[in-house]
Amino acid sequence: MKPLKIKKICCIGAGYVGGPTMSVIAHKVPDVEITVVDSNPQKIALWNSENLERLPIFERGLKEIVAQRRGKNLFFSTDIDSAIEKADAIFISVNTPTKTFGLGKGMAADLRYIELCARQIARVAQEPKIVIEKSTIPVRTAQTIKHILDNSGNKVKFQVLSNPEFLAEGNAIEDLLNPDRVLIGGEESREGEKAVEALIEIYSRWVPKERILKTNVWSSELSKLAANAFLAQRISSINAISALCEKSGANVDEVARAIGMDSRIGNKFLKASVGFGGSCFQKDILNLVYICQTMELHEVANYWMEVIKINNYQKERFAKRIISTLFNTVVDKKIAFLGWAFKKETNDSRESAAIYVALTLLEDLASIEVFDPKVSEAQILADLQMHSDGNFSDNIKIQKEPYKAVEGAQAIAILTEWDQFVKYDWKRIYDSMKKPAFIFDGRNILNAKEIRKIGFHLYQIGK
Ligand code: UDX
Ligand code: UDX
Repeated sequence: MKPLKIKKICCIGAGYVGGPTMSVIAHKVPDVEITVVDSNPQKIALWNSENLERLPIFERGLKEIVAQRRGKNLFFSTDIDSAIEKADAIFISVNTPTKTFGLGKGMAADLRYIELCARQIARVAQEPKIVIEKSTIPVRTAQTIKHILDNSGNKVKFQVLSNPEFLAEGNAIEDLLNPDRVLIGGEESREGEKAVEALIEIYSRWVPKERILKTNVWSSELSKLAANAFLAQRISSINAISALCEKSGANVDEVARAIGMDSRIGNKFLKASVGFGGSCFQKDILNLVYICQTMELHEVANYWMEVIKINNYQKERFAKRIISTLFNTVVDKKIAFLGWAFKKETNDSRESAAIYVALTLLEDLASIEVFDPKVSEAQILADLQMHSDGNFSDNIKIQKEPYKAVEGAQAIAILTEWDQFVKYDWKRIYDSMKKPAFIFDGRNILNAKEIRKIGFHLYQIGK
């Protein structure tokens, strides 16, 4: 059996997953030529910008790799057809948002972009290709892709692989360089096996063989959803305990430490917070729930749905706590938000808890000033717009300077755990605020003793 060799790669979707993943492959496999394409020309222009500070995605270590490989074996282009045409392997890493309409509204994944990609590949390809699902998708989507490819194309042979991405934003480059595992799902046939081996050949250039797992396509697809559901479940579990801690006088950080030292439980992902955000957890669990429902597995669906419910409860609890502490009214009170991103070290704010907390406070007519080191003003306003239909523009301001955002505020809410927040001059902040001055630390990053000594009234999660 003659092995397949991947020499040219095309990646459709130059987002948080496609951009960094392809940059790392280009870095580690210099003899493979990679073209990343996107239907959004502005995004491609940003990936091609001379000034590397303008790359559309902020990830530690990314710009250095792009600087090294761009124009050599890494290209960003809007010419999707020609990139597909010349590639041996095509990664699909377009977004798959939760449906906002029709059947499965609010739960199912909207697969229209995946389908568009499949149709485009089928139309253009004149030679056999390996098509690789990178985007997280419902189980059995590979079958849909294969169906479209086989039935709408030029009778070219395709192999569809599932190769889900497990990178966490903010740590993407490190995760890609040193992954816990790489998962490759392929068809259980001779051709399927050859395609899987070709992709293994790429990853094995830097990932130890024992960390590369081969499974069937459906196991691979489901593993991604299950991994995210398990991770999110840990956060909802500790957040549920945090509510109980507040009532009982226990301290959630102490509880987390105590349970995390049980090696069967482990100490990661036990940080109580204002709630998880990001493009994946909620979407993937909703996806899982929807799949279970369509398969009549209602108990299983309800079980996973609780993870989301606790997360919503946690965000709501935080916002309500702010209102009740500020003497049950926030009308015209200035509340400063430190942080907008869904976690530190990223400029991504998709599904960030900050959005929901802000909307609740705005509904109660608070006046909010936001500072985030990486999220742009346009993005913050777009987030609010997307999640509401209200008219709040007069009550929200975005500041480029943290000390400006807190000046004259009645309260500060910390929504993202950016390291710089801890190092601020909190005495100076206290002096510039209205009294009594409150801090609602949604990430438990501040040193409670020192903060209280300055004079602040401090609320932390689960304490
Ligand atoms: C991620 C993951 O890929 C996916 O697993 C998860 O399900 C959703 O989020 P991400 O890279 O973070 O995707 O998404 P995003 O940053 O929105 O990037 C997707 C890109 O695909 C965008 O740049 C968009 O312009 C592009 N796109 C979308 C296309 O090029 N063509 C399309 O038809 C649709
Ligand atoms: C996640 C998965 O970790 C990754 O493997 C998958 O590929 C995509 O989804 P990501 O969403 O980028 O990655 O970030 P992650 O670090 O998992 O954080 C998600 C959210 O959970 C953030 O809002 C974070 O602040 C929150 N979180 C995380 C907690 O509240 N407590 C924790 O202990 C850990």
